Formats: sequence, C-alpha cells, structure tokens
Amino acid sequence: KKVLLAYSGGLDTSIIIPWLKENYGCEVVAASADVGQGTELDGLEEKALKTGASKLYVLDLVDEFVEDYVFPTLQAGAVYEDGYLLGTSFARPIIGKKLVEIAQKEGCDAICHGCTGKGNDQVRFELAIRAHAPDMPIIAPWREWHIKSREEEIDYAEAHNVPLKIDRATNYSKDKNLWHLSHEGLDLEDPAQEPQYEKPGFLEMGVSPLQAPDKPAYVTIHFEKGVPTAVDGKPMKGSDIVRTLNQLGGANGVGLIDIMENRLVGMKSRGVYETPGGTILYFAHKQLEMLCLDKETAHYKALVAHKFADLVYNGQWYTPLRQALSAFVTETQKTVTGDVKLKLYKGNIIPAGTTSPYSLYSEELATFGEDQIYDQKDSAGFIHLFGLPITVQAKLKQNWEE
Ligand code: ARG
Ligand code: SIN
Repeated sequence: KKVLLAYSGGLDTSIIIPWLKENYGCEVVAASADVGQGTELDGLEEKALKTGASKLYVLDLVDEFVEDYVFPTLQAGAVYEDGYLLGTSFARPIIGKKLVEIAQKEGCDAICHGCTGKGNDQVRFELAIRAHAPDMPIIAPWREWHIKSREEEIDYAEAHNVPLKIDRATNYSKDKNLWHLSHEGLDLEDPAQEPQYEKPGFLEMGVSPLQAPDKPAYVTIHFEKGVPTAVDGKPMKGSDIVRTLNQLGGANGVGLIDIMENRLVGMKSRGVYETPGGTILYFAHKQLEMLCLDKETAHYKALVAHKFADLVYNGQWYTPLRQALSAFVTETQKTVTGDVKLKLYKGNIIPAGTTSPYSLYSEELATFGEDQIYDQKDSAGFIHLFGLPITVQAKLKQNWEE
C-alpha cells in the first residue's frame, strides 16, 4: 500500500508520516508544492526522509499558479467578503490537481492531506482531487485521529522522533505563497485583540504603515488585456511582477487586512492577511477598468466578481460555472490595456494617473466648456421621458389629496 501525502514540513504534515505508517501500514510518498512560499522549502527533502517518507517530490508551480489561477481571479476582480484576496483559496486547486498527477504516476492507493476538519482547505483540496480523480480515496487524519491540540501534536512528534523546529507557544496558523501570507489562531481568535503589527516577527511580507518611510514611492504598472506585463516600463513575467510589487508594497505598509470571515463550513473566523503586491495589482486593474469598461459591462462584471469570489473561496474552481464566468471575464478584458501610475504611502495607495489607448473617457464630452457632440437642449426631452413615471405618480398623488 502506498499513500501520497501533501507535505509542507510543518508540524501537522510531519506527524502524519509516522501516523500513516502506524495506522495504514503503508509507504508514504510526500509531495510539496512550491507556490512561492520561499525559504520554507530549504532542507525539506532531508526532513521528509528523516521523518519516514520514502521520497519527496517538490513541484515548482509558481508560474502556473500566477498565470492560470491568480491572474484570472485578478481579472475577474474577485474579492471575498469585500476584503480577502483569496491567497490560500486559489492555491488549493492547483496543488490538488498536481497531487492527482503524482498519485497516478506513483500508483498510490490514496491521497492524504493535513487540513483540519473545521476549515475551508479540506474542502478545496478534496474538490480539486475529485475533479481529476473521482474515485481516489482521500485520507484526512485530523478527522480520524485522537490528537486534539498543538500540544498533543508536539508530544506525538517527540514520541515518534519527528524532527521539530518550532517553539511551543508562538505559532500562528499561517499559509504562505507568492501572493499572500495568512495569520489565524492564538490571540487573533479574540476579535477584541489588536494584531501586533509592529512586533518583530509578526509581519513577514512587509512592515506596518507606522514603520513605513515618510516619503511616498511611485510605481507604474502596464496591463495587456487585463494582465500585468511590466513594472516601471520593464517587461516581466507574472511571478516577477508579483515579487517586485510585494517588495515595494511591503516596504510601504500596503496590503494588510484584518477581517472576520465566514468559512464555508459554517463558523466565522478571524484572519490577518498580508497581500502587498496583490493589493497594488487589484487597485491598479480597477483604475484601468474605470477608464476602459463601459458602464453596463462594468456594473454587470461586479456581480460576476462576487460570484467568482464565492466559487474560488468555496473550492469550486473546476466547475462549469467558474469556467463560464472566466469566459465572460476574458471577453471584458479585450480593451483593458494601458498604464496605471500609483503613489504608495504608509499603507495607502493613491492614484497618480492612468492612460489607455482604449480609454472610453472623452475630455471633450465631459468638459464644462463647449463641445460638438453633446447638445444640452437634448437633455430636456431626455429628462422628460426618464422622469415620466415620477411625474405620473406626483399627479395622481395630487388628485388623491384633493
Ligand atoms: N481563511 C483563509 C482561507 O480560507 C486562510 C486559510 C489558511 N489556511 C491554512 N491552512 N492556514 O482561505
Ligand atoms: C485548516 O483547517 O487547515 C486551516 C483553516 C482553513 O482551512 O480554513
């Protein structure tokens, strides 16, 4: 028997290795996805083998993640509950899909993940796995074992000689990738507590606005059909754009949110998210759409964005509806090309000028001065018809009162 484990090297997935061997009597093949989380991958293979895995796959998914999952969601303008830029949510479908590929290649009998039974991630992984291998058995130890706390996990690890590098008290539940870093748990579980933004070691992708420079930083982002393609005139691939903007945004305290979100599984949970580059990209993309999308499309697209965000959050990436909405979004992006200049200052993003060859804005039309297209006399008839129902209503009301 052979099981493929989605492995991060963290406490949860580390103790799962001996647990699987003990409880399923199986060989454990581990797989780690590189979605841009950076240093966490150093020394991982040695650790996985020491912990008892027979092999570790490290999958470089960064570019595919950015191009096929992050940017389509950015183009959609999808934001969950008005704040969360979906950093963890859209990383799960790509990882789930790749797990299936490896499991099939290795001839594994099941796929195992380390998500708790109380969260969204279990749903996202399992829907992604089902979409690609509907009959693949899935093992979720958190829903089976008797371990109930981090303390008990550490005890289990020590009893099974699992190498640990964490201290007992100060570990938030974090999820990191190129797009974001999430913090949940510990003191954050009390919504009355202010997050310790200025405390060294809390923020990892940037600084608090209080610690940001006193001078603003300017940046110009170029978009082609709604996809960012250059920063300050320098063409770059998507992942490098996100990296560059993470640096810049992080240094200026941009992209921090603190929200109470509604999980798919029913409870509310409090999260602090760092999304410096992503926040800049969403802002810039929106600025450009204001110039390039017609009113009806823009208003309708906001409805689509809302649904799109729910689908991504709920793990429904591989569904006909998500694909259909993406097709709609792609159609709207044909003219979303141009340059957006922004000023970053202590956590704020301030627009500093937008240009596009497809701009629908006409200075001639909007000017308070004279123009050739718009005859102000036309407005009288327009208001007459537009206001007809109001006029009728008012006349009737007059009659009733008499
Ligand atoms: N609450 C966020 C979400 O559902 C972040 C989850 C982070 N996941 C984790 N395993 N720490 O997308
Ligand atoms: C987890 O349960 O693994 C983390 C939280 C979540 O999935 O929402």
